[in-house]
Amino acid sequence: VSHRIAVSTAAPYDVLIAHGALSTLAALVPETAQRVAIIHAPTVTARAQAAAAALSSHTVVLICAPDGEAAKNIEFVATCWSELAHHGFTRSDVVVGMGGGATTDVAGFVAASWLRGVGLITVPTTVLGMVDAAVGGKTGIDIAEGKNLVGAFHEPLGVLCDLDALDALPARELRSGMAETIKCGFIADTSILDDVEANPVAALDPRSELLADLIARGVAVKARTVAADLHERGADGSIGREALNYGHTLGHAIEMREQFRMRHGEAISIGMVFAAELAHRTGLISADVVERHRDLLTLMDLPVGYVPGAWSTLLDTMRLDKKTRGSQLRFVVLDDLAAPRILAGPDDEALRASYQAVSS
Ligand SMILES: NC(=O)c1ccc[n+]([C@@H]2O[C@H](COP(=O)([O-])OP(=O)(O)OC[C@H]3O[C@@H](n4cnc5c(N)ncnc54)[C@H](O)[C@@H]3O)[C@@H](O)[C@H]2O)c1
Repeated sequence: VSHRIAVSTAAPYDVLIAHGALSTLAALVPETAQRVAIIHAPTVTARAQAAAAALSSHTVVLICAPDGEAAKNIEFVATCWSELAHHGFTRSDVVVGMGGGATTDVAGFVAASWLRGVGLITVPTTVLGMVDAAVGGKTGIDIAEGKNLVGAFHEPLGVLCDLDALDALPARELRSGMAETIKCGFIADTSILDDVEANPVAALDPRSELLADLIARGVAVKARTVAADLHERGADGSIGREALNYGHTLGHAIEMREQFRMRHGEAISIGMVFAAELAHRTGLISADVVERHRDLLTLMDLPVGYVPGAWSTLLDTMRLDKKTRGSQLRFVVLDDLAAPRILAGPDDEALRASYQAVSS
């Protein structure tokens, strides 16, 4: 199985989803490039080394990043800049980011900032990285004051989702990525929901055709959404790219409270059930659609509830977060399946009751 999804931006590129996709890396490196830096997660070192060996006509510099979120800081970015300087990287050379979303985010930021921007190829190796982080051109790092507060939009030359990498991915990471895939189902492509419900075992099997297909459909949803709204401005008054934040307002607050010990997909799984309860309480969706959220996410072994006493802390965090980012408290909710909209400033009682429904 092999899927190729075109992302139409000013400089269009493809996302290739296939077993063995990494073997096409050399073809994506522009002929003018002499040097390639592969910034990779420590968990995929062997794959990075194999990719380096296959780029025989280039000077390849391997840079192993600290694992996961620990790579997304300015110190590691500075280390990468020094390496690139040391090896004489020019405007025509290329940076490859290989690993989960954290690694591709930081590698993307290195590519965006080195000499004001050099070519980037992303090779996501987690389901979340494939479906979400690698498409859309957002790159960035964390600072002490918050996650993802510093970054740049920088589109890649291409994205290689090599499904072989998923064999080594811990089951918990795979399920976390499935939460983002299911999110794409609720906001845009309900065939994802139908197929996960019909084949939950295959949906979590890295060798199944179904998983490849679900990833491809998730990528297609993200690609369509970002192409329509590249810089998240929600032009023409439509919901635009913000739809991708379904489950993220509460999910993000839970991640903060957990100090990121909970996986991103687990937090947004709870956040989606909350958003569904909120939509139900404000008269938008039926109780059946809310239950569909619970049943489907539970089928993927994802959490659908959170601790009862945490509401006031979570509300404070959501309010504070919105202040930093300069807007009022907003939730993506569903008018119906595949029909997302914004609910801005919902009343406190509906919020509290919805939280109660996910915490008892
Ligand atoms: N740029 C965007 O649009 C965007 C979108 C969503 C998320 N993100 C970012 O993505 C990050 C989360 O991504 P993630 O969930 O992939 O987490 P991650 O990058 O931290 O990876 C999770 C873990 O899986 C390991 N891993 C990765 N691939 C592996 C493989 N094939 N085999 C074994 N282990 C492997 C990693 O080393 C890490 O320990 C966050 O930093 C988030 O901000 C960015």
